[in-house]
Amino acid sequence: MDNHIPEACIVLFGATGDLAHRKLYPALFQLYQKEKLNEKFAVIGVGRKDFSHEKFREDVIASVAKTGDFPTEKVDTFASHFYFIPMDVTNEKSYHQLKDLADELDSTYSLNGNRMYYLAMAPQFFGTIPTFLKSEGLTETAGWQRLVIEKPFGHDLASATELNEQLQKSFPEESIYRIDHYLGKEMVQNIQVIRFGNAIFESIWNNKYISSVQITSSETLGVEDRASYYEKSGAILDMLQNHMLQMAMMVAMEPPGGLDPKLIRDEKVKVLRALRFYNEDEVAKNIIRGQYKEGSMNGKTVPAYLDEENVDPASKTDTFVAARIFIDNFRWAGVPFYLRTGKRMATKATEIVVQFKNGPMALYHEHNDHYQPNLLRIHIQPDEGLSLSLNAKPQGDFPALLPINMNYCNNCQNELNTPEAYEKLMHDCLQGNSTYFTRWDEVALSWEFIDGITNAWKNKDIPLFKYSSGTMGPLESEELLNEDGYTWWPPTNVRNEINE
Ligand code: BG6
Repeated sequence: MDNHIPEACIVLFGATGDLAHRKLYPALFQLYQKEKLNEKFAVIGVGRKDFSHEKFREDVIASVAKTGDFPTEKVDTFASHFYFIPMDVTNEKSYHQLKDLADELDSTYSLNGNRMYYLAMAPQFFGTIPTFLKSEGLTETAGWQRLVIEKPFGHDLASATELNEQLQKSFPEESIYRIDHYLGKEMVQNIQVIRFGNAIFESIWNNKYISSVQITSSETLGVEDRASYYEKSGAILDMLQNHMLQMAMMVAMEPPGGLDPKLIRDEKVKVLRALRFYNEDEVAKNIIRGQYKEGSMNGKTVPAYLDEENVDPASKTDTFVAARIFIDNFRWAGVPFYLRTGKRMATKATEIVVQFKNGPMALYHEHNDHYQPNLLRIHIQPDEGLSLSLNAKPQGDFPALLPINMNYCNNCQNELNTPEAYEKLMHDCLQGNSTYFTRWDEVALSWEFIDGITNAWKNKDIPLFKYSSGTMGPLESEELLNEDGYTWWPPTNVRNEINE
């Protein structure tokens, strides 16, 4: 794949929304200032507000300004490529005006008919917009057309299938770029390189040497102002169905035959095919759900989930989920993967911990409190890096042991240059590289797995465990690991370890 970014018109639905403002304009600007965006580009913002082009540009400038101090002239020139159309996306007639403007910008900027349609809107419009793009002739241009679609992609297998069928009437699968922003994170992409670029890891990356894998993605924020969405999704649909399973796939996949997107995605999907699906009793044993209570965060009392605005006071929505999953294939048979994620937890961190088995003979580790199994930690955020914990001999004091860490921090020095997930994903999409977007077969299988859990929650009396805000989740999540002789490794901070 070459690095050339083709000229294109980006049509952004949801242009006055929060995602566009917080993430998409700054991401595009970063591409622009790093000269990764073709200088022939135009952006058409679509929204309900009655913005003029000028007002829209002011908004874009303000959004970019929030992310840094950039030369005014640069930002102004960038913003001059932006145009706005106020429209009701459910009214097919309004697409004519959009088509006229897109065609006009195609010729003004010589864009060769390349179009990226980005749906950053409420999911109820995901089906309608592509249908009208096709019926009103916006998918017939001289160049390529790609559809970028945000999550949630459905809320169960049936709704996702319905949405997918609708999309495929207007865009072929290879033109649909389903976003999972975790796949745009630097260290999530790095998992592949760490594994397949280092023979020392790949040769022990299996059930002979690895005893378990833990993936934690904890958040300190609560539901904020998103209750109307979150009440219907909970942590399981919001995080586990997508981001957490995606990280598990990256850790567990077989080496691809090459770096072609198809080869990588084929390997990822095989992981889901080998995933053990649970019946209702197994759900009760292997999946722990929780909900935050009042608690203290940074010395401040924060309310219980049930007391948050727009939350049903009797809500059974999970704000935390911990899962023990198994990938029943040759490489992973018998190795538990533990995934946990939740809101209002003690710390904001995403970390993968690969725990290796102890050596065959207890020369050092028996009766030694200092002994620690070898761990490879992949720090996804906030700091990006890698640490490998080993045991060594402290000076003199044989036979005591000293656990030591070899640390690497990816972003400690050049923090400001780490590309944001959206910057990488937009860049990839413009380039036609779908590696880090989710393919339909992956999405369908992940829904099938998740439906098994949510149906069990609906049908069986499975408890919802409460946890205090500011903790790492309910006690039952610890007990889940204790059953197998493990405990959760608390997320660590690679930066602090380096500085110590
Ligand atoms: C989103 C979820 O997909 O991911 C949010 O909808 C969550 O609820 C967010 O807060 C977490 O993303 P990040 O990049 O902050 O870890």
